[in-house]
Amino acid sequence: MKIDAIILAAGKGKRMQSASPKVLQQVAGKSLLQHVLDTSLELKSCQPHIVVGDQASLVKASVSAPKNSKWSKQAKQLGTGHAAKQSLKGLRAGSIALILYGDVPLVKSSTMNNLVKAAGKSSLALLSFEQQTPKGYGRIIRSPGGKVLGIVEEKDATTEQKKITEVNSGIMAVASNKLEELLNGLKNKNTAKEYYLTDIVSLANENKIPVKAVKLDSKEEVLGANNREELNQLERNYQLLKAKEFLKKGVIISDPARVDFRGEVKIQKGSSIDINCVFEGKVEIGKNVIIGPGAIIRNSKIGDGSRIEPYTLIENAILEKNVSAGPYAHIGPDAHLEENSEIGNFVEVKRSKIGKGTKAKHLAYIGDGQVSEKVNVGAGTIFVNYDGKNKNKTKVAKGAFIGSNSSLIAPIKIGQNSMIGAGSVVTSDVPAERLALGRSRQRNIKKK
Ligand code: UD1
Ligand code: CA
Repeated sequence: MKIDAIILAAGKGKRMQSASPKVLQQVAGKSLLQHVLDTSLELKSCQPHIVVGDQASLVKASVSAPKNSKWSKQAKQLGTGHAAKQSLKGLRAGSIALILYGDVPLVKSSTMNNLVKAAGKSSLALLSFEQQTPKGYGRIIRSPGGKVLGIVEEKDATTEQKKITEVNSGIMAVASNKLEELLNGLKNKNTAKEYYLTDIVSLANENKIPVKAVKLDSKEEVLGANNREELNQLERNYQLLKAKEFLKKGVIISDPARVDFRGEVKIQKGSSIDINCVFEGKVEIGKNVIIGPGAIIRNSKIGDGSRIEPYTLIENAILEKNVSAGPYAHIGPDAHLEENSEIGNFVEVKRSKIGKGTKAKHLAYIGDGQVSEKVNVGAGTIFVNYDGKNKNKTKVAKGAFIGSNSSLIAPIKIGQNSMIGAGSVVTSDVPAERLALGRSRQRNIKKK
């Protein structure tokens, strides 16, 4: 069955009190609209139709959509029904139209699929849920026998109707040709003077199109966000859902309420995450990795058995197996730490490779470095990579020992098994197996 996903994203979202359009507000580091779009793309033979209006070009430019997506513009925001109408000309013959709201971002693809199936070729299906505080949502009106008669918006509801706790998620499915017929019948005789999409339910009843309400057991995925407080709630819901997914897979999370996953995060079994960690972008964590509190990990891979000590920032980096990093280390961008290497307290590693078993355990800056295996980088070592114009490389061969508080003025090469005396300023290459002293000799002068 062909699915045409109509995503309504033209509204201003005044209640959000923000200069940017509502559908560009973010949950888990991704815009509301992008969430809906990405999920719809999980459906088989689905083509997205996005209706934009408020700051249309900004919205279009901010979303990454497949090439075959169709965009239509709603010049004036005359209501959700009017918005849906803008997409009609692009719909494919014989498709099922699935209407999604750009401000209801967490709907699962399985839920979307179920609704499309419930609609089939002949019915209108809508997704409802129970909300004990239903304010702001359209109420589902049923006959005493349970038949869905229509939807009444908050603004138009009587005191009695306002008490109804079964509400409209906004998501509907109906055959495209039927949708056209229904939308053409909409009127704006209501308090808001808008063309409500929700009125197609009563119209369907008038036109003898069967209406089916699919009621969700858990409402987490269909909550919308009209203001900042609701946006925060959505964020927490999302994070809790993510944390639960990881718990099920055998990941240990100290407190599911104090962790943030923003992006595509993969974590394998046996790894543990302490409180207040943030994961951003594409992150892959192997097995039995221990991540201490306050770690921030962006677009990075961390190998099995590694240990990330508290308050460490890792970005665009690869950490192989059994690496130890932190506390308070800054790894990346573009750092590659090979197996069993150790990067300790207050060490920054940038655009550098650190070889197997190499250690830099305290207070060092390693920038543009190629550090081989089993090197010891002493406390306070600086790779002086910047001459004011260019970034220059430092190469350190296997087994070298860099004494504490040394400055290696790049470009420079330090040979295999060589040793740099503490406090040296090293300005020329050091051959293998040498002791380099680049500091003034100590004088002990007699006191007067
Ligand atoms: C809507 C539903 C309500 C439902 C709730 C669920 C209607 C009339 N009401 O109310 O029954 O319970 O969502 O969250 O549909 N939009 C446009 N053009 C417009 C107006 C809105 O594209 O002219 C878009 C908005 O960008 C938004 C979506 O439609 O993504 C919903 O609009 P919104 O104003 O938030 O509707 P609600 O009042 O929340
Ligand atoms: Ca809304």
